Amino acid sequence: MDILKTFSFELPTRIEYGVGCASRLPKELAILGAKKPMIVTDKGIVASGLLENITVILDEAGIRYDLFDGVEPNPRDENVHRGAEMARSLQSDCLIAIGGGSSIDCAKGISIIATHGGRIQDFQGAGKVSGTPLPIITIPTTAGSGSEVTFSSVITDTERKTKFSVRSTRIAAKVAICDPELTVSMPKNLTAATGMDALTHAIEGYTANCSEPIANAVGLYAVELIFKYLRRAVAKGDDIEGRAGMLTASILAAISFSHSDVAAVHCIAEALGGMYDKPHGVCNAVCLPEIMDYSKDYCIPKYARLAAAMGLEFASAEEGAAAAVEAVKKLSKDVGIPPFSSFEIPESRFREIAVKSFENLSNASNPRILTIDDYMVILKKLASR
Ligand SMILES: [Fe+2]
Repeated sequence: MDILKTFSFELPTRIEYGVGCASRLPKELAILGAKKPMIVTDKGIVASGLLENITVILDEAGIRYDLFDGVEPNPRDENVHRGAEMARSLQSDCLIAIGGGSSIDCAKGISIIATHGGRIQDFQGAGKVSGTPLPIITIPTTAGSGSEVTFSSVITDTERKTKFSVRSTRIAAKVAICDPELTVSMPKNLTAATGMDALTHAIEGYTANCSEPIANAVGLYAVELIFKYLRRAVAKGDDIEGRAGMLTASILAAISFSHSDVAAVHCIAEALGGMYDKPHGVCNAVCLPEIMDYSKDYCIPKYARLAAAMGLEFASAEEGAAAAVEAVKKLSKDVGIPPFSSFEIPESRFREIAVKSFENLSNASNPRILTIDDYMVILKKLASR
């Protein structure tokens, strides 16, 4: 039982949350004593005008900054290395990561390489980072990855065409400035995909074999908020309450999985992201109901609690567990997530995807431990949808 487990809980990132709170960025830079900050972001954030919301604040405060906008989706090792080279040559003393999970994960990588040198692959795994990487301030513009409060960074190894993670509390942001207003301009498809990523974090964080009471509590509340607000945020982007609900949910979901783990859904999503550069949130959204269905019988009581958090009524735990799976299926459809077949992945590649999923360390966290053959069954089911 989870309640008898030994656990430790640390959240190294201070969270500053609120509508309009982006304006506190100059104050946060002063607290860190930062004189030469470098913004880390992607070209989409620049082109959309979102970056201006932040640079205007810096300009008005008379703060000079440099800009690295070379982050790509499913951020690559080469993005990290180029950003680190720039930070080093500019003698940056702080990184301001603005954007979704890609920008923030890339900034975490840059923070290490800028101070330690080497390749980001050298730091793969848990606890490999020593010393003090560059301090990071995170400013999320999506509500999904939760990377603003986690202490891991997922990077694509371009040569091996696989994703790997670097985990260390030393790369956690010093402060996460979470302003729901910055998420208002997110288009519907990105709102849906990132929201389903947050739902996957919450469900996997709560149901992972290694979960603990705090991860359970925040994961369940995140599920409640996502079922209350995701449809609203997708339907009406300028509904600030919907946006605030989703940003809060994504933070909670990230606290859940980062103190527990993700599981089989992320195992497949990371394989698809590394091999085919598919959007992380969509990969999760597509796989989540199928994996839940496949794992349900191994986790009935927790799935029933999920159903209650979703606001469903049921007569027995078994009925509740089944209802939770159906509700996730429906939510995914309602917010417009495309089917797996839209990825156009040939069946001949399924085994490679299954092997990569199986080899992912988070496979051991799934309530039903999956074999390569299990992943093959799931992939074939997905392809038939
Ligand atoms: Fe994720």
